[in-house]
Amino acid sequence: MKIIGIVGSLRKDSLHRKVFNQYKELAKEHFELIDGEIAEFPMYDGEHDDHPAVVTLAEQIRSADGVIFFSPEYNYSIPGSLKNALDALSRQNPQPFAGKPAAIVGASPGNAGTARMQYHLRQVGVFLDLHIMNKPEVMISGAFSKLQDDVIVDEQTVEFLGLHAKSFAEFVRRF
Ligand SMILES: Cc1cc2nc3c(=O)[nH]c(=O)nc-3n(C[C@H](O)[C@H](O)[C@H](O)COP(=O)(O)O)c2cc1C
Repeated sequence: MKIIGIVGSLRKDSLHRKVFNQYKELAKEHFELIDGEIAEFPMYDGEHDDHPAVVTLAEQIRSADGVIFFSPEYNYSIPGSLKNALDALSRQNPQPFAGKPAAIVGASPGNAGTARMQYHLRQVGVFLDLHIMNKPEVMISGAFSKLQDDVIVDEQTVEFLGLHAKSFAEFVRRF
């Protein structure tokens, strides 16, 4: 099973990039997690539908079994980098997200664990015709205190991420 992971943060030292790397290892027995690159996406202006970064990711998503978004919450919502990528991908034909199973993984230094971003992303997912898994939801709070040397060391969180990968594999199999 091949799953595309899209990291919503472009920061060099991104927490979500670290979570993506760790999740990839934890999920290995269930599926292969492939990096869906959005860093080179141009700002959507209707003129770059043939941009190689956009076309490549669209094709990767079409041929994958599902998608997982690893995204921070910015100002209570979806980061512009991720929203821009979703907008660009939504103009590809055939629309790559249509009918795909998906999941969301988020972590924040505060208490909300990206909950507000996740419900906005679920709303966007309706128009994209994504099937976003309802449960379990991954909303890691107090994330920096759970991290040591770029890896989450909090045992409960690590166990939960492994359980999420297993649940997502079962969810994808139902499609
Ligand atoms: C522009 C901006 C807006 C942010 N807004 C929120 C927010 O609404 N809620 C929240 O929990 N954290 C917010 N944060 C803090 C992020 O959760 C934190 O920077 C986190 O490390 C971002 O993930 P990343 O490291 O993968 O980029 C914001 C950070 C930035 C840079």
